[in-house]
Amino acid sequence: MPGDSTRNGDDAHAEDANGKDANGDGAGASSVGTVSLVGSGPGDPGLLTVRARDRIDAADVVLHDKLPGPEILDSIPAEKREDVGKRAGGEWTPQEYTNRRLVELASEGKDVVRLKGGDPFVFGRGGEEAEHLAEHEIPFEVVPGVTSAIGGVGVAGIPVTHRDHASSVSFVTGHEDPTKDESAVNWAALAATGGTIVVLMGVGKLPEYSRALLDAGMDPETPLALVERATWPDMRVATGTLGSAEATRDDAGIEPPAVTVVGDVAASYGRVREFLANDRVTDALADGTEEDATEEDATEEDAGDAE
Ligand SMILES: C[S@@+](CC[C@H](N)C(=O)[O-])C[C@H]1O[C@@H](n2cnc3c(N)ncnc32)[C@H](O)[C@@H]1O
Repeated sequence: MPGDSTRNGDDAHAEDANGKDANGDGAGASSVGTVSLVGSGPGDPGLLTVRARDRIDAADVVLHDKLPGPEILDSIPAEKREDVGKRAGGEWTPQEYTNRRLVELASEGKDVVRLKGGDPFVFGRGGEEAEHLAEHEIPFEVVPGVTSAIGGVGVAGIPVTHRDHASSVSFVTGHEDPTKDESAVNWAALAATGGTIVVLMGVGKLPEYSRALLDAGMDPETPLALVERATWPDMRVATGTLGSAEATRDDAGIEPPAVTVVGDVAASYGRVREFLANDRVTDALADGTEEDATEEDATEEDAGDAE
């Protein structure tokens, strides 16, 4: 990649010079490309990191799903994009296919960007892909991104921690059914922290996990906010309480992708909203009425969340 001596992949290529080429056979080191696992941020192209933009522009191929959002995807030439999200007909691209494709392209000598919404290691299967690449001796780097779990709610004026309101924050998937015997998420333990709970992939199962938090003893008046399509041109925010979670979602017609914030900090939106001056966010919120909302296809499933 041009002019960036800090790139992890450059170190990986240095390894090649020592004979540990990515094919593992000591030959053809120079023919192996590098994979960059890149976080796009929540969707505003202005929140792509400088390095993310650099990698995208220099890549031979960009494998992506829908979550980076329309503006970032439209900024990438169609001929170098491969969509590994939801296929036509609603079928999922299996993770095995994506893993295989990454190895295949890099082995052909291509520099590949695997572009993911937010941060690639926050509920993004980036860890699985990194391990798969390492197993196949493909040099890779990680380019962190602004996660929707922090930055996506931050642009709505909601700080995930606050000296007066929350000394801890938990990030959790709402995709799990809390009524399942073997749920990996311990909602009662999360409720007991007294801190902020940020739920990703949590639109569909909102009634179930809000009930689980109430059953664990949380106050029904606990503030709750839903931030939909954070930083996209049609971003919206809905606020309510834990006790009215489902109505808050349904009255506003909130659809994925959205982040749920449960905790006192969720009320900050109401306190600061009038003075929020993140240009496009403010514009989106001013215009983003329920009527304006369109049924985009960037669903929880598109986000890599097999329901
Ligand atoms: C598979 S997770 C990927 C998270 C991503 N890696 C990140 O760090 O933001 C998908 C979920 O992230 C959340 N999400 C991602 N981008 C979002 C956005 N722009 N606005 C609201 N929620 C978003 C939603 O909860 C969505 O269901």
